[in-house]
Amino acid sequence: MSVNEFSRICSVVGDDFSRVGDSIRTSLQAGVPLINHVADYIIGSGGKRLRPLTCLLAARACGYQGDTHIKVAATVEILHTATLLHDDVVDESKLRRGRATVNATWGNATAVLIGDYLISRAFQMIVELKNQDVLEVMANSTCIISEGEVLQLISQRDPDTTEERYMQFIHGKTAKMFEAAAESGGILGNKNLRGAMVHYARHMGAAFQIIDDVLDYMSTSTELGKNVGDDLAEGKPTLPLIQAMKLTPEKDAELIRQAIRTGGLEHLQRIIQIVRECGAVDYAHAVASRESQLAIAALDPVPDSPYKQAMIDLAELALNRAH
Ligand code: IPE
Ligand code: IPE
Ligand code: MG
Ligand code: MG
Repeated sequence: MSVNEFSRICSVVGDDFSRVGDSIRTSLQAGVPLINHVADYIIGSGGKRLRPLTCLLAARACGYQGDTHIKVAATVEILHTATLLHDDVVDESKLRRGRATVNATWGNATAVLIGDYLISRAFQMIVELKNQDVLEVMANSTCIISEGEVLQLISQRDPDTTEERYMQFIHGKTAKMFEAAAESGGILGNKNLRGAMVHYARHMGAAFQIIDDVLDYMSTSTELGKNVGDDLAEGKPTLPLIQAMKLTPEKDAELIRQAIRTGGLEHLQRIIQIVRECGAVDYAHAVASRESQLAIAALDPVPDSPYKQAMIDLAELALNRAH
């Protein structure tokens, strides 16, 4: 992600972005030292904070003038962080945000329980807002995100997973969190624009995850702050592999099928080469690009403003990012 471009988008919301950071920190002071310590560790390691940014921009683009969006954005990031703690247990990942994962450092039990704590705390914060519509969005989204993760789990190690099935689980596990962020902003602002916010985020989130799946083959661990090859290690049939199996000669397709069935990194270098050379990466980019364009088109009903423009830029950045 271009740091400059990202900072420019953030600057549109002024100091609201750093106020979200303050809100997250003050909201996670628990009575149990281990919770404080681990929450500080994962929150303090940063993260791009794209979902809270989406929430802030959506609220302002929909005309919202108040302050509640700061708290909503903070809860969205806390929920997202919880999903990462759990995801890293499920994916057996060792590196996150440039640091050893919580599961690798303190073990799975700690990662699961702190993830649970973060979800509970986020809901406590949302209830405090006394906004039934936002509460409903968060409750429904959290359920769908979990469904998406489970849907992906059943596709794991299944080389016959279709592109349709892949789109279904990325809409659940990833796009839904962006939707919750944007839709809540719409609810706070102009409810007539709520649908536009949902459509924007659904497409932007899909583009974001497709690029995440490309970067898992094309980037470096230093750049990403997480280990490349994690998806193959877990036998995840992501779009680059699904398309590569269609494009590449039978011998290579069979190698990929086998790698998905067994998991592991034995053939990572060869598979990176196949995915790159057969055009599967280009294909995944084209699909992500279409999603990004649909996100931008979804903003048509939204009146022009610097916030709307920043949302357009964010949809482009989700596509043209290096981490
Ligand atoms: C990681 O999301 C999980 C995915 C949906 C790919 P991010 O790449 O936004 O993670 P952080 O919050 O910046 O670390
Ligand atoms: C996204 O999937 C996880 C969530 C939405 C929780 P990934 O498993 O691809 O995310 P990374 O690559 O670990 O960040
Ligand atoms: Mg993962
Ligand atoms: Mg990934």
